[in-house]
Order: sequence, then structure tokens, then C-alpha cells
Amino acid sequence: MQLGVCYYPEQWPRSMWVDDAKRMAELGITHVRIAEFAWSRMEPRAGEFVWEWLDEAIETLAAAGLKLVLGTPTASPPKWLVDAHPEVLPVRADGVRWNFGSRRHYDISSEIYRRECVRFVTAMAARYGSNPSIVAWQTDNELGCHDTVPSYSPAALKRFHAWLQLRYESVNALNEAWGNVFWSMEYSSFDAIGLPNLTPTDANPIHLVDFRRFMSDEVASFHREQIEVLRRHAPNADLLHNFMGFFTTFDHYRFAEDNAIDVAAWDSYPIARTESIPLPEEQKARYARTAHPDVSAFDHDRYRSIGRGRFWVMEQQAGPVNWASWNPVPAKGMVRLWAYEAFAHGAELVSYFRWRQCPFAQEQMHSGLNLPNNELSPGGLEVQQAAREIAATASLSGLGEPTRAATAIVFDYETQWMFEIQRHGKTFDYQMLVFDYYEALRELGLDVDIVSSKADLSSYRLVVVPSIAVIDETLVGQIERSSAQWVFGPRSGSKTTAFAIPSSLPPGALQNVLPMQVLEVETLRPTLTPQLTFGDQQGHATHWREHVRANGDTRVDAQFDDAWPAVLSHGTVRYVAAWLSHGLHRAVLEQAAKEAGIETQLLADGLRVRRRGDLTFAFNFGVLQVQAPAPVNATFVLGQRQLATGDVCAWKGAQTD
Ligand code: GAL
Repeated sequence: MQLGVCYYPEQWPRSMWVDDAKRMAELGITHVRIAEFAWSRMEPRAGEFVWEWLDEAIETLAAAGLKLVLGTPTASPPKWLVDAHPEVLPVRADGVRWNFGSRRHYDISSEIYRRECVRFVTAMAARYGSNPSIVAWQTDNELGCHDTVPSYSPAALKRFHAWLQLRYESVNALNEAWGNVFWSMEYSSFDAIGLPNLTPTDANPIHLVDFRRFMSDEVASFHREQIEVLRRHAPNADLLHNFMGFFTTFDHYRFAEDNAIDVAAWDSYPIARTESIPLPEEQKARYARTAHPDVSAFDHDRYRSIGRGRFWVMEQQAGPVNWASWNPVPAKGMVRLWAYEAFAHGAELVSYFRWRQCPFAQEQMHSGLNLPNNELSPGGLEVQQAAREIAATASLSGLGEPTRAATAIVFDYETQWMFEIQRHGKTFDYQMLVFDYYEALRELGLDVDIVSSKADLSSYRLVVVPSIAVIDETLVGQIERSSAQWVFGPRSGSKTTAFAIPSSLPPGALQNVLPMQVLEVETLRPTLTPQLTFGDQQGHATHWREHVRANGDTRVDAQFDDAWPAVLSHGTVRYVAAWLSHGLHRAVLEQAAKEAGIETQLLADGLRVRRRGDLTFAFNFGVLQVQAPAPVNATFVLGQRQLATGDVCAWKGAQTD
């Protein structure tokens, strides 16, 4: 378990650096990330590099025994660059160009900007690539943050044309695949195609899907241009990017392909995230100071697979932040708890944002480990406590491998895009559907891997696919060869890759293993709640329901009160024909886990467990004091069985009673 911090030497007088470095090391911090927003100080005028301040900052930190993570500063191009090339500023969907004066003000498709980035990163990597104190490099910062992935610029249009040409080869093939005969949308050349903005009503959904696929590839290729430079100059460093929580604008699996990263790092702001995702108001209120118990775990489990087992938390919330609708102070213990939670899920490093609260500019209301007057903040004191505990406890400092879960959830980025483009009902949100299933599995005490449908799923005993828009032959092949229990949710197999309804009706190719058809679908306003019973549980459908027909020897395991099938199964494969109320999702999963031979245990409200190596951790996010589900004679290496709000404990032995 290693702790890190984000530090901005350029924001503080040099006279503070030595003391800062010393205090970081004393606190138990081992890694420091620097430089990711400092372009204007490294190159104040075009071609005029000023490295000496950065040399000194690196030397000072390294002299205190700290390891460095160096960020490339391409998330904030300096004013001289924007003045020389105003066309690097991105264009919004309404056709207006963004201004200079904050950050992420660049068009990812701008060939001029890409050239500038490669030029700058080459100079930076040539200077620092072989420095042994720099153990990792981060490209850019939070690609896509502030909704900056799509740019509706001439530069984006030009590259979109080339992308389409590569994908479809001929414009007739594109017209056919897109169904452009509809509303006379046919094109006579690739050059005639526009971007899917500023249309009086909906653009063709496949036009939108392809634009999102294109932009996703743009993000990956922008990052790869820097990786190529960094691999050459810093062959021994870990290369990474800091991703975001609940962020789906680009396909992270594709981004990480072909060793484009060594570690998946992500930025965890649990309270702000709980406030900003569409959770029921009652949950936001209940977890306002602890964050929802699954909100960080969900992304820990997702990024662990994106990093092929290796993940870091590059920025961890250490107190109140500045960017959500409301920004409360975390409950006592949470800053410490979130670190252990990340480690339990397999993190190698948890790095806090930021060393000291900055008293000026945009983030002055954002906490750090130190108050602006340099006193340790309440969060800083909790980090100190965690660091001391880890140092004093051998089984914490040398944690075993992350446990490979028996249960997988498939998460698919394209499905998110497709169902965002065609919600069909105001409240349908694919990622929240996945989250609902994830929460149910975690309430049952299970460890979960969140994986791509293209991953090798053969080692899992239970595979949950809350939904997947396109079901291809490869996935059907995986199901046919597998002995796992499978659960598919609504809208699965409802589209082809060209965003059309499959000719055999949904769920498309899933019918090879589960004979059934979806005849009609409906979205449900909050007052429409079709009722059903599953086993001894009563509940209802919400957001989305399907009218389906069971074919052949497919079984109907539950039906709605109006007699339409709700849960169907064929062998080891189940289909849930609606977004069910939460308790029913849990009941379906509990039954599938049982049939998969996986033991479940319903945990107390707000309690979660996670296994790593020979340790089991328990965390209390709830308002009441609870008991950790440890065996009677468990040996606790951290904390104790009784857990107040914000408490954590860990014991040896992965077994629960
Ligand atoms: C992140 C970003 C940081 C800082 C932080 C504040 O999104 O990477 O630079 O702005 O949020 O919470």
C-alpha cells in the first residue's frame, strides 16, 4: 500500500519546497505527481524552454526520498500558443468556439495542436526521460473532462471524413448502413457529410453513434502520440493516464489496448460523485457525508480490469471539494476509509489531491492535505493515521494480489453511447442500470470484476450483463462454451452495429442460446409501475419494460401481474425483461449465484466487504453501528468487529460466517 500526493511547486514560493518535501516524506507519502498544468512556466514563449525551476523541484523532492510522477501539461495550452493558432480552440455543439481562460481549451482533432503537443512532450521527455526518480509519466489530465471530447470544428470534420471512409470504403455502403433513404438523407460523397449537430430535430442515430466512435478513437490516438514519445525516452517508467469516475465518453478498453498504458490511474471524488450521478434523492441524503458505498468501488473494479490488474488512484478526495452541487465535509474517518477501500480492491497507490489548498484562482475552495496556512487539514490527519497503521502492520504494507472474483459484470461503452443517443424514456440510463446490479451484488457480500464483453470470461461462475446493445457471435460463443450462470438485462441484443433493430427482433443473436423475442418495449413514467412477484419478493418495473414471447422450451420464471413474462431462462442463461425495482434485481442475482455455487450473505445497510490476498476488509458507510461479518475467532489486523460510521477493519481468512 503506497500513498501519494499531487503537488504544484509552480504555485508556491521556492522557499517552501524543501520543507514541503520533508513533510511529505514524514507523513508517509512515497509518490508525488507534478507538472501537469505547468506548460506556461516550462515554455513561456514559443520554443523558449525554462527547465531550471522544474529541475530544482524534481531534485528537491527526490532528495527527500520521494518518487515522481511527471504529467505532460497538454490539458492547458498557454496563451501564446492559442494566440498563434486560434483554431486549436474547440467548437461547441452550438457552433461557438470556447475561449482561453480556464483549461482543456483544445480541439483534440486539431492537427496543429497535436503537432505542438508532440513537439513539447518530446522536449520534456528528452530532458527527464532517463531521470531515475521519475517512476511514472501521466499523459495530459482527465481526457474529456468538462465535456471537452466532442469538437464540432472543421478539423474534426476533416478527420471524421477520413474515419468514415476507412470504415465504409464507399459512400453507397455508408448510405445503406445508415439507412439514409429515410428523410432523403443520402450523400453522394464522403465530403458531403456533415457533423451531427445543429439539425432541427434528431440527427440519424447511427450518424451520432459513428461520431462518438470516431471521437473515442480520437482520444485514444491523441494519447498514443504522446505514449510513443515517452516510450522512446522513458523506457523504464510506468506510463499512465488519469481517468475519471462514471465517465464513458470514450471506450477505455480500446484506449488501453496494445499496452497504451501500463497502469490505469483514476481520480476518485466519492462525495462529489454521489452528488452528481442520478441516484434517488433519498440515497444522496443518506450518504451525503460518506458517499454511496459502491460509488468508488464500482470504478476501482472497472479500472482494475482496464489496467489488466494494475490500477492507481491518482487523485483521491481528502476533504470538501469545490465542483459538485453541494460540497459537504466528509464524515470523520472517510478519508482514511477510502484509502483502505482502494487497496482492498487492488490499488497499488492512493495519491491525494492535493498537498495544500491553493488560496487563489479557480480551486481555492478545494481542500488538500494542508490548509492554506500549511497546517495539516482534518483529511491530512487521517492520512497520517493510515500511513502510520500501514507502516506498523506487516500484513497491510505487503498486501497480497487482488482477489480474482467469481462474479463478473460486463460493462460496455458503446451500449452507453447507443442508449444515451436513444434513451427512449427520460430516465433510462445504462450506466445506472449497471450500477444497480453492481450494488445488489455488493450487498450480497460478493467481490465483482467489471469487464469488457471481449474479455476472456471463462473463469467466472456468474456473468451478469445488465444490458448490451449489440450481441455478437463472439459473445454467443463464450456463452455456449461456458459453464457459468448468465443474467442478461433488458435491451440486450436490441441493436446491430449499424444501430438498427435485428431482423430476428431483439435480443438478436442471444436467441441462439435463449429462444425468445421482444415484441414491444415501453418506457415508464414514475407513475407507471407494472407489478410482479419473483420467488417470495414483490416489486415492480421502473424506467423500462418489454413485452416478450418465450419460444421453444424457454421457461418463464416470473411474470408481471398482467401476465407478460418478466424473467425467462433457458439452461444457464436468464433474461430479465425490465428494469426491476432494486430488491428484485437482488433476488434474481441471489438465485443465479446460488445456482452458480457462490455463497452470498446479505450485509447490513451501508456495510461492504472486499477480499485481497488473505485479508477480508469491511467498511461501514452507513449511519448505524454494525458488526463486521468476520468468523467468531477471526484475527483482526486492523480495527475491530464493531464498526461505527466511517470505520474499517480487516481480518485474516477470506471466509465470512
Ligand atoms: C480533477 C482534476 C484536478 C482538479 C480536481 C479537483 O478533475 O484532475 O486537476 O481539478 O479535479 O477536484
